[in-house]
Amino acid sequence: MRIDIITCLPALLESPFAHSILQRAQNKGLVEVVVHDLRAYATTKHKNVDDYAYGGTAGMVMMIEPIARCIDALKQQRSYNEVIYMSPDGQLLTQGVANELSLLQNMIILCGHYKGVDERIREHFVTREISIGDYVLSGGELAAAVLADTVIRLVPGVLSDETSALTDSFQDGLLAPPVYTRPADYQGLKVPEILLSGNKQKIEDWQYEKALERTKLRRPGILGSEE
Ligand code: ADE
Repeated sequence: MRIDIITCLPALLESPFAHSILQRAQNKGLVEVVVHDLRAYATTKHKNVDDYAYGGTAGMVMMIEPIARCIDALKQQRSYNEVIYMSPDGQLLTQGVANELSLLQNMIILCGHYKGVDERIREHFVTREISIGDYVLSGGELAAAVLADTVIRLVPGVLSDETSALTDSFQDGLLAPPVYTRPADYQGLKVPEILLSGNKQKIEDWQYEKALERTKLRRPGILGSEE
């Protein structure tokens, strides 16, 4: 999988892909993440990427030229399954959406800033808009990092058996059950006996019960919502 992220603040995206699972996914050659600085595609003398909004609306708007030039340059090198614009008006990101995107070969993620991008980009270049939640961020970069993280960990081979995505919360329409590690007794706070029993079937039944109980209590709306 290849993910090209277009941003006017590339520094914001340096760290998220340079550690842990996301870094390993790239080192293993399973995923390639390339961040593009929009300013490199600016056409004005001062390398502007934004301008005043027509109609007198307050706030700046990201210009069409740099974004269009960047997307066109990328499309000349390979074809893309999706050009995703991160926006609070987009489709809400769920585990189901992440599962779907994890099957794609190449995607572009465009990060908005200021008042957003010129509408013509959304109409003619963007194929999909995704929101990470009903709140407004200062820009699309953190949202892009969240989206890329949740998609990359689902790419086959990225997670080892122990960290398999199949046991994640939401993957089976349930929240994850509680987990414990050593010591088995911390100042009288004990790990449930069953987990120390070695009985695989009983442990699995217990984990299922706990996952169900937790989901009913905390997120009844997701029960049975697996995709
Ligand atoms: N940009 C600003 N807010 C956002 C959100 N909630 N999701 C995705 N992109 C955004």
